[in-house]
Amino acid sequence: MNDRQNPRVGVFICGCGGEISSVLDTKALREYAAELPDVVFASTESYPCSKDGQARMQSAIHEHQLERVLVAGCTPRLVRRLFEDTLITAGLDRNFLDVRDIREQCAYVHAKDPKAALQKAYDLLAMGVEHLSATSATHTHEGRVFKKALVIGSELAGLTTALALAEQGIDVVLMEQTDALGGETGALLDQGREKLARNVESVQQHARIETRLHTRLLEVVGQPGEYQVTLDKEGEQDRLTVGAIVVAGGGKFRSLEGERWVDRERVKTLAEYQAELDAAAESKNGFKPQDVVMLLHAADSLEERSLRLNSTLGLKQALHTKKLFPEANVTVLFRDLPLGAEGIDTLMAAREQGVIFFRSHEGHPPTVGEESVDVPDPLTCDSVSIAYDRAVLAMPLVPQENVDAVARMLRLPQDEHGFIVEPRVRLRPGNFVDDGVYVLGSAHQPADLSETLFQAYMTGSRVQRFLDQDSVDIQTPIAVVDAELCTGCGNCVQVCPRLAIRLEEREGVLSLAQVNALRCIGCGNCAVFCPVKAISLPGWDDAAILAQVSAALAPSPKRGKAQQEPRVLALTCEWSAYAAADMSGVQKIEYPAGVRIIPMNCSARFDPDLVLWAFLHGADGVYLGLCHPGDCHYGTGNLYASERVEVLKQQLAEHGFNPDRLHLEYLDGDDGEKFASTITEFVAEMKRLGG
Ligand code: FES
Repeated sequence: MNDRQNPRVGVFICGCGGEISSVLDTKALREYAAELPDVVFASTESYPCSKDGQARMQSAIHEHQLERVLVAGCTPRLVRRLFEDTLITAGLDRNFLDVRDIREQCAYVHAKDPKAALQKAYDLLAMGVEHLSATSATHTHEGRVFKKALVIGSELAGLTTALALAEQGIDVVLMEQTDALGGETGALLDQGREKLARNVESVQQHARIETRLHTRLLEVVGQPGEYQVTLDKEGEQDRLTVGAIVVAGGGKFRSLEGERWVDRERVKTLAEYQAELDAAAESKNGFKPQDVVMLLHAADSLEERSLRLNSTLGLKQALHTKKLFPEANVTVLFRDLPLGAEGIDTLMAAREQGVIFFRSHEGHPPTVGEESVDVPDPLTCDSVSIAYDRAVLAMPLVPQENVDAVARMLRLPQDEHGFIVEPRVRLRPGNFVDDGVYVLGSAHQPADLSETLFQAYMTGSRVQRFLDQDSVDIQTPIAVVDAELCTGCGNCVQVCPRLAIRLEEREGVLSLAQVNALRCIGCGNCAVFCPVKAISLPGWDDAAILAQVSAALAPSPKRGKAQQEPRVLALTCEWSAYAAADMSGVQKIEYPAGVRIIPMNCSARFDPDLVLWAFLHGADGVYLGLCHPGDCHYGTGNLYASERVEVLKQQLAEHGFNPDRLHLEYLDGDDGEKFASTITEFVAEMKRLGG
C-alpha cells in the first residue's frame, strides 16, 4: 500500500558531461518530466553525483518540499547508494529514490538513433515517476550488535585481522578448513614467512581468539550485528552468533598438473621452486642449478591479476638463487614488472647480483621447450633460446573451491574468475553487500605482503568501529504480512528458502504468518506465492512493479514511429540480467530500442500475474533475465522462477496464447553481449509473430 498518494516528486536529469546530452535532448526530457503527474520540480544537471550536484539536490528537496526523487543518469548500480545518502541527509526515506539509467540504456546503446533513444528515455522517466508514486517506505528496525567476529581463513590476512580485533578486546572465532593455520601465499614471501610464523604463534596464545581447524561454513542467517552461523567440523555442527564476518583468504596458486606437456623435473611453479631453494639453503637436497629462467608473464586477465604478487615473489627468488648459487645464470623474462617500493629494491639488488632481465613483446610470450626457453627478441624479432635446467613459471592465484559457497551464503558478488568483488568498486571501494561483512586477502584479489597487511589492519579497524555500536538500523527489505488479509494458508511457510516464516495461532480458526526478521533475506518468493497477496516486500512491492509495467507500455504521443515496433518488457534480476544490460550499454552493443527494462531484486519476485498484466497492457513479449542455476544470491529464487515460467507457458498455450512470447534467459552480470544478442533475437521473433 502507498504511504502517501500523489507525492511531490522532483526529477533531476543528468547530462553526464556530454556523455548523455550529446545524444539525448536533456531540455526536452526536463520539459517532459515536468508534465508528468506528481512532478513538481524538474531540472537538468551536469553532474548531480558531484559534491556540488548533491548540495543542489538537497537545496531543491527543501525548497520545493520534495517527497520523492528521480535521478535520470547513469546506472543505479553505480550511483544509487550515493543518492540514497543524499536523500537521507535531506530527511527522506531511501526507498523514495529512483534512478533510471538513460546513459547505458539509451545514450550508449542507441547513439546511432537519437530519436529512438529519446523516446526510450521518456518512457524511463515515466516509469520512474510511476514507481515513486506507488512505492512504500523502507521498513527499518533496530538490531543488536554482538561483540564477536568470525574470521574465515587463516592466511596472513586472516591471522593479522584476528589479532588486530582481539587486541581491541573483541572475541574472535578464526575458522580454517585445513588442518593448520597459515596458507601458501604468505609462506612464499621472505618477511611474510616470519610474520606468518609470529602471527600463528600469537593467535594460538591469544585468549580472545578461538581457532577452529577442519571447519567449514555451512549456513549464515541474520543481519549485520547479529549473524547466526552454522559451522561444520568433520560432520559435527555448531551454531554461534557473531556481529561481523570477515572473509580473509581463500586463494591458492593454480597447479601445473594436467596443464601442459612440461618436464615436471625441470619445470616448476614459484611455490615448488621456493621449496627447492629452502631445502638447498639447508643443504638438504643437493640442488645446484646452472641455468634458471623465471617466466613472469601474464598471458590472460587472470594472470594479470596476480602479476604484481608474482613479480615480487619471482624477483625475490631470482635474488635468492644468485645468493645461494653465484655461478648460476638467472634470467627473468617479463613483459611488465609491477612492483611496490620494496620490489624496486629487490630489482636493483638482483641486477647488481647479475640477474639478467629480458623483456618480451606483447603477444609473443616465451615458450618452454625441452632444452630451452625461446622468446622473440623485441628489437630484432629473432628467436632467442635460453638454456635451462630450471624453468620457473609464475602461476596465477585462483580462489579456492570453498569461496563460491561462502560468496553465495553471504550474497557477495564474484568476478569472472571467482574473486569476491565490491558491487560498486568505483564509489565504495572496500564496501561489500552488508555493513557487517568484510572481504580481504586472496578471496578478493592477489595481494603482496604490504597490501595484505594494509588491508588487514584497515579491516580490523573498520570491524571494530562497526562492533563498537550498541545497535544498528537494519534496512534489508524484509517480508511484511498484512494480518487483515492473511488467511493462514501456510503456502509462504513452505516456499521460504530460509524457513523464516511460521504460522502462529490467533483467535478464531485462522492462523497468522509471522516473519522472523533475522532469517528473512528479502527474496520475495513468499509474496509471489501468497494467494491473497497478504505478504509484500517493501521496495519491491506489487503496486510499484505494476506501476512501472503500465508506464512502460502506456501509449505515448511522444513515441511516434517506435510505437510500431514490438514492445518487449525485460524483467531482470539486478544481480545478473540487469547488470548484463548495463554491460551492453558500457560496451555500446546495440539492441532494439523498443525494449524496456525493469529491475527486480531476484527472479524469485517474477510473478506470473505480473507477466499476464504486461500482456494485458500490450506487451508483445516478456523476457525474464535471471542468474544461472546455482548462482542465485537468494539461494533458490531462480529455481522457483523457472518452474513458474514452465507452468505459465503451458497455461498460455492452453488458452491459445503463443507461449513463445515469454522467454527465460540465464545470464551472468558481465554477459553484455549475450543480453544484447538474446534480446535482439527475441524482438525479431516477436516481429515475426506479429508484434
Ligand atoms: Fe538473480 Fe536470484 S539473485 S535470480
